[in-house]
Amino acid sequence: MTGPDLAALDYAPKPERGPRLGIAVVGTGGISGMHLTAYRAAGYRVLALCDHQAEKAIARRDEFFPEADVYTDLDELLARDDIAVIDIATHVDVRPELVRRSLAAGKHVLSQKPFVRDLAEGEELIKTAEQAGRLLAVNQNGRWAPHFGFLLAAVRAGTIGRVSSADFAVYWPHDRGVQHDPVFSRMPDLILYDFGIHWFDIVAQVFADAEPRSVIARTGSVAGQVIDVPTVASVLIEFDQGQATLLFRGASHFAETGRYRIEGEAGVITHQGQSLGGTSAMVTTAEGATDVDLDGTWWSHGMHGTMAELLAAVHDGEIPSNAAGTSLPGLRLCFAAIESSHTGRPVDPRTVGALR
Ligand SMILES: NC(=O)c1ccc[n+]([C@@H]2O[C@H](COP(=O)([O-])OP(=O)(O)OC[C@H]3O[C@@H](n4cnc5c(N)ncnc54)[C@H](O)[C@@H]3O)[C@@H](O)[C@H]2O)c1
Repeated sequence: MTGPDLAALDYAPKPERGPRLGIAVVGTGGISGMHLTAYRAAGYRVLALCDHQAEKAIARRDEFFPEADVYTDLDELLARDDIAVIDIATHVDVRPELVRRSLAAGKHVLSQKPFVRDLAEGEELIKTAEQAGRLLAVNQNGRWAPHFGFLLAAVRAGTIGRVSSADFAVYWPHDRGVQHDPVFSRMPDLILYDFGIHWFDIVAQVFADAEPRSVIARTGSVAGQVIDVPTVASVLIEFDQGQATLLFRGASHFAETGRYRIEGEAGVITHQGQSLGGTSAMVTTAEGATDVDLDGTWWSHGMHGTMAELLAAVHDGEIPSNAAGTSLPGLRLCFAAIESSHTGRPVDPRTVGALR
């Protein structure tokens, strides 16, 4: 018996094929810099930037795409027929309405995460996209972060068989990173919702064929943290075929670490690096252990990968792997964890519809 062909696993962003599509970025705040860095490196055709704070869009335009046009009125931008894809990088509170307007104008949409605060609203947006004949994808860039991208490719290829457990731990100084941000530093569910959604999404992806049954979560504040909202969380998710755990330590000021261990019937995949990933993973099966070098970073591959997937789907007339519907199972686990952390009780994710 030969070992798994790990070198054949493809988790890189797809190259753009066919005529280059016009892209606009809406919401040019903090994270838009990472979008635009990746889009410039990929050679994407960013034609316009929109923010109701014009100075922010102008600054991004000047830094990344000097030829692009700046708008403060989304409808003016949407009237352009040379723009096919709208990348909406605002916070979730205002985003669904911007998604609706973009779809109504006949655009394909890439939404930042977390996709929605209510699964019914997510379903409604997905239906709106279907009715408009346009694609709606979510920027779950974690799926293209190399350590997670490799993991998902390996699991989907059957490298470790059916997954039986998935354990993730992250130790990082998130409190210091968001200390001066007026939104994040006060977000009650900062760790489980805004940050944790990437991990809930990866858990949902590795347990794609399993039925989630129960989620238990606790959050807390710890000595030494520099923001007032909880920075730590511990989560246990039970599926019909196994368990997942998530350990978030978001006020960890030394020795930043991110790691996972995913077990299956036929092997184990392990990784240790920084909070957003490292440079190698290890696959252990009956044939032995193989070290795999990882290419790229959370930001470069992540922000490129999500847009690349949408562009390829538009060109090919297919459904992208980050279609909005695929983000709902992770959101369901996330909402259940938040509800459990508020009530102190286990929550069946199948009964949860929204962030309560
Ligand atoms: N995928 C990731 O790794 C990642 C990382 C960081 C942030 N994010 C997500 O990105 C989103 C934005 O975060 P941020 O830190 O950039 O926030 P931000 O507040 O810095 O930027 C949001 C921008 O949206 C603009 N805006 C708000 N309403 C608008 C409207 N109606 N029309 C046009 N512009 C509007 C604001 O003026 C602001 O410039 C959040 O959902 C956050 O969770 C994702």
